[in-house]
Amino acid sequence: MKINIDKAIESFRINFSVVKREGAEDLLRWIEDETDFYTAPASAGYHLACGSGLLIHSLNVRNNLEMLNTRLGLGYGDDTIAICGLLHDLAKVNFYIPIQKRRLNTETGKWETYSGYGYDDRFPFGHGEKSVWYISRFMKLTDEEAMSINWHMGGFDDRVKGGSRCLNDAIGKYPLVFWLHTADQKASSIDELNWDKE
Ligand SMILES: [Fe+2]
Ligand SMILES: [Fe+2]
Repeated sequence: MKINIDKAIESFRINFSVVKREGAEDLLRWIEDETDFYTAPASAGYHLACGSGLLIHSLNVRNNLEMLNTRLGLGYGDDTIAICGLLHDLAKVNFYIPIQKRRLNTETGKWETYSGYGYDDRFPFGHGEKSVWYISRFMKLTDEEAMSINWHMGGFDDRVKGGSRCLNDAIGKYPLVFWLHTADQKASSIDELNWDKE
């Protein structure tokens, strides 16, 4: 996958510009001036573990969510699609750090060092929870947006793995929880699967 960062940043700004809510401009300024959103990876090793992976992933999730909204006639507004898609993983800003990793080169049979990512959680607030908190510092979310971003990891959420039953109730009351999780899963498990093999 070849990533054109300038085009991706332009696309992010255009997509985010549909959000006209009070505080949206301050939120964008914070993202651009005080976080590594445009350069951070999307993960430390699973999907888009490369520079600007988070930006690309966020655009992919927004596109998937828009596709579901349009094809299935879900009826969500453009700003809700933009907010949930683009900002669901805001928790990942100022989080990953470049580190040297080791891996076995299966062709040579030798161990080698390569540049990868680890993390340093400077604001350990959870994952979906942290995204909601960061956004809410600047701009109001609807209950359904907050619920969806909070639970976007679905069954992979640590709280669910720890036994919480809230997720089913959340989906029952707010279907967007399911749709955002689906858009996120499609991006990370299908769209971005072979990012380093092309
Ligand atoms: Fe996430
Ligand atoms: Fe995500």
